Amino acid sequence: MSEQQHRHKSGFETRAIHAGYEPDAATGAVIPPIYATSTFKQDGVGGLRGGYEYSRSGNPTRTALEGNLAALEEGERAFAFASGLAAEDTLVRAVCGPGDHVVLPNDAYGGTFRLFDKVEKAWGLVHDPAPAADLDAVRRAMRPGETKLLWVETPTNPLLSIGDISALAAIAHEAGALLVVDNTFASPYLQQPLTLGADVVVHSTTKYCGGHSDVVGGALVVRDLDLAERIAFHQNAMGAVAGPFDAWLVLRGLKTLGVRMDRHCDNAEQVVAFLSAHPSVTQVFYPGLPDHPGHEIAARQMKRFGGIVSFRVAGGEQQALDICGRAQVFTLGESLGGVESLIEHPGRMTHASVAGTELEVPADLVRLSVGIETVDDLLADLEQALGSAG
Ligand SMILES: Cc1ncc(COP(=O)(O)O)c(C=O)c1O
Repeated sequence: MSEQQHRHKSGFETRAIHAGYEPDAATGAVIPPIYATSTFKQDGVGGLRGGYEYSRSGNPTRTALEGNLAALEEGERAFAFASGLAAEDTLVRAVCGPGDHVVLPNDAYGGTFRLFDKVEKAWGLVHDPAPAADLDAVRRAMRPGETKLLWVETPTNPLLSIGDISALAAIAHEAGALLVVDNTFASPYLQQPLTLGADVVVHSTTKYCGGHSDVVGGALVVRDLDLAERIAFHQNAMGAVAGPFDAWLVLRGLKTLGVRMDRHCDNAEQVVAFLSAHPSVTQVFYPGLPDHPGHEIAARQMKRFGGIVSFRVAGGEQQALDICGRAQVFTLGESLGGVESLIEHPGRMTHASVAGTELEVPADLVRLSVGIETVDDLLADLEQALGSAG
């Protein structure tokens, strides 16, 4: 089946397994080879085979991944990078210049905020935070003509708040800006922002796309071909590309994204029920909860509610740290979206870089990335970790 057919006719899981690659013409290899080569033989000067000349500009393993990601996000083109932050930086430089303005979420991933606040700001980019869940606040933060990007995560990291992608796209476009959606938490299985009006999807493919905590990577996906050209130029000119080994791992991960995400969601729902009934827990953050302020929007724009759950505890920061320290099946570590469950203290770990800013997270907050282990083992582990802490 051709690339075009996969993109427009096949179901998500079929695209996840087949899009971006046809069995190798020479050998029939069903899985794309890892093209561990920096350069490609030319048939006479400028006689490129398949357009490949040098692996920063293009590599067939990376091309397969990029085709797959474009099909899953229902975009026209995707670009794979060495990390999520490399993708973000490349996008910013492709679209913005010194003096431009960007609106960021007020609970963005700490590394995204640090990139804008410590790196892009020194380059002359101005940024303002706004809660993506509050459309009036976002509208007020926009500076028509000056704002180039409205950047949102939905669900956000780590507080799982929800932004209405269609409404945010309208606000961005009214002000002459592009809407960028970091779709890392949802993954393309649960949400396709480009179909809701977003202009750019960002991924840390390190997370659910890769899915096995064995690779760091990032991606951008777009529909507009002029924007794609600008990104393609910057991807090559800046050089932060995904290497062929890393591209291959992410591509392998994507094949099982659908089944993994369904199990992540099943397990997260049971973890949420357990935490909601626990006396030490003062608040559970999960967009699947009917009393979550973004629940209705999430139900409209997401297939299910994801595998990340955050919660606050009555005993303050010390109790949150103790729970992280006692957990055993939940591994104490940064990152998320792998098959194994992880637990972390955002204030001291992933979000330490936003301490003292408007994006600071509560000290009594614990974040779980609920994995796909046997759910009874996850619940028993939380019980013992929370049990004596109350
Ligand atoms: C939502 C989100 N976006 C972007 C990133 C950055 O991606 P990477 O760590 O692959 O550079 C992360 C990393 O944790 C993230 O959680």
